Amino acid sequence: MSSAERAAQALTQLESYDLRILQAIELGMMQHEYVPFEEVARISGLNFSELEFRLGNLDRLDLIYRQKEPYLGYIMNYTAYDCLALNALVKGGTLEALGPPVGMGKEADVYEAMMPSKRKVAVKFHRLGRTSFRDTRRKRDYNADRRHISWLYQSRLAAESEFRALKAMHGAGVAVPEPIDQNRHTVTMEYLEAVQLSDVTELDEPRELLLDILENVRKAYEAGVIHTDLSEYNVMVNAEGRVWLIDWPQYTASSHTNAEEILSRDVGNVAYYFQRKYRTDMTVEEAVAYVKKGLSR
Ligand SMILES: Nc1ncnc2c1ncn2[C@@H]1O[C@H](COP(=O)(O)OP(=O)(O)OP(=O)(O)O)[C@@H](O)[C@H]1O
Ligand SMILES: [Mg+2]
Repeated sequence: MSSAERAAQALTQLESYDLRILQAIELGMMQHEYVPFEEVARISGLNFSELEFRLGNLDRLDLIYRQKEPYLGYIMNYTAYDCLALNALVKGGTLEALGPPVGMGKEADVYEAMMPSKRKVAVKFHRLGRTSFRDTRRKRDYNADRRHISWLYQSRLAAESEFRALKAMHGAGVAVPEPIDQNRHTVTMEYLEAVQLSDVTELDEPRELLLDILENVRKAYEAGVIHTDLSEYNVMVNAEGRVWLIDWPQYTASSHTNAEEILSRDVGNVAYYFQRKYRTDMTVEEAVAYVKKGLSR
C-alpha cells in the first residue's frame, strides 16, 4: 500500500490527541532533527504518561521513529505528514475520501479523491528529498546544515509554489487543472479525465493540438510565467483533443535572465516531440516565434 493510502487508513485509528502529538513533532522538526521527548510534551501539552502511551501507538502504526541515543527523540515520516495534511483537508471541508493513485513518481504521488459534494478531484502529494529512516540516521552527522528538515520543508514549498502557479495560470485563462486547495505538501485540484500526451497513440490533427499547447504557453508567458519542465509528460489530452498543462512547482518568471533559453527549451521539447512522433513540420524556431508573437494558423 502506498504512503497516502496507509495514511488514510491510519487516520481512521487516530484520535485528536494523536494528531496533536504529530503536529508537535512537525513543529519540533523545524528546530531539531529528532524532537526531544520533553519538547513533544511541551508543544503538545500532554502529560508524560499519556504521551508515552500514545507515542508507542504511533510507533507501532509506523508513523514515527524513536531514537534512544544520545537522547530520547522522535521524527515522523511521509505517511505521518500525509495524515496531517489529509486530516486538515477533511476538517476544512475539502476532502471526504481518498481514492486510488493515478500517477506515482519520484517527486510526487497523485491520487484520485472525492469532495463532500461528491466532486472527483486530484490530490498531489509532493515528495522531495524522500529519505528513509535509515538514511536519516546515517546523515545525522550533517545535522549542522539542517538537512534533516529538508524533505518536510522542500515538499511543502513545492506544493505552495505549484498552487500559486496554478492560481495565476487559471486566472490568466491558461488551460491548467483548476486549483482547489493546498495544505502542507499537498495540492488539491480539478481531476482531468485525460491522459498524458506521451501515452496518446493517434491524433487526428496533430498540428492543431501542437498550436493549442503553444497558445497556452504563450498565454502563460504573457502572464509572466514559464513552465520550465514542459514535455509530453506534463501535457494532458482528453478524447476530444482538449489539452491542459500540468506539473508547475518549478515554474519561473518570464522576466528571468535566462527566460529566452528556458522558454526555447520548453517549446523545443514539445515541437520536437510532434516532429518525431507526428511528422509535423513546425520547427523549434517557428514554435518559439509563435509563442513570443503569435502566428496565424
Ligand atoms: N489534475 C490531474 N488529473 C488527473 N491526473 C493527473 C492530474 N495531475 C496529475 N495527474 C497524473 O499524475 C501524473 C503525475 O503528475 P505530475 O506530472 O503533476 O507529477 P510529477 O511531478 O511529474 O511526478 P513525477 O515527475 O515524480 O512522476 C501525471 O502525469 C498524470 O498522469
Ligand atoms: Mg510530471
